[in-house]
Amino acid sequence: MNSELIVANNPKSSIAEAIKNIRTNLQFSSVDEKVKTILITSSISGEGKSFIASNLAVAFAQAGTKVLIVDCDMRRGRQHTIFHVENIVGLSNLLIDDVEKKYKKYIQKTRYENIYVLPMGVIPPNPSELLSSEKNKQLCKILKDNFDLVIYDGVPIGGLADSVIMADLVDKIVIVSAYKHTPMEVLQNTKKGLEKFEDKIAGIILNKFPAQKDHYYVSYYQ
Ligand SMILES: Nc1ncnc2c1ncn2[C@@H]1O[C@H](COP(=O)(O)OP(=O)(O)OP(=O)(O)O)[C@@H](O)[C@H]1O
Ligand SMILES: [Mg+2]
Repeated sequence: MNSELIVANNPKSSIAEAIKNIRTNLQFSSVDEKVKTILITSSISGEGKSFIASNLAVAFAQAGTKVLIVDCDMRRGRQHTIFHVENIVGLSNLLIDDVEKKYKKYIQKTRYENIYVLPMGVIPPNPSELLSSEKNKQLCKILKDNFDLVIYDGVPIGGLADSVIMADLVDKIVIVSAYKHTPMEVLQNTKKGLEKFEDKIAGIILNKFPAQKDHYYVSYYQ
């Protein structure tokens, strides 16, 4: 069991409730079209993107949604560790393969019902180039058509082009901000960096709010 997957391990906890609440908000964030792809990003490293992405996936899966988590952090991704799947090959390898014919080979079923993971793969020398490729666009479309929901665990906005590239390809963006960790001006810069995609920002999660013994609370602002 992975202790980070609180929504699975301790579904009655207040954090699990908070994450399920975020799920509900996301389900209602678009009236005309169903939200099918979500990017989880943040200003800087360590704010809780991977934690939120994985727990949100569990929350959606518990509601019967077939979810795929794509680990876009091809430098230091850890979704394969969280979900106990192999990372011999993954997103980086798929993006230099025949995306349409081979994508299924790279996706792994997890021990959790309805949750699938496309791990980061081998660390490539050019992650940004891979994400901005036509192949990645093609892949995003294929994945959207084959899963109820695709959650992209992104890299931070600060200094890296990757999350901005992904912002363009998804339906909704969730920004994670850790309590007392992200300076306000840095968070403002993140919002500015995503200005072009303002309509897509579903909300900001204030993470690591000190409230519980082992885990920190998460709040959601829209
Ligand atoms: N609400 C929370 N309660 C307890 N621990 C948390 C919470 N959110 C995040 N963490 C822990 O904080 C650490 C950093 O979180 P995480 O790896 O999700 O951040 P990240 O934004 O994905 O970082 P990176 O930018 O390096 O990918 C992890 O050990 C994670 O388990
Ligand atoms: Mg991460």
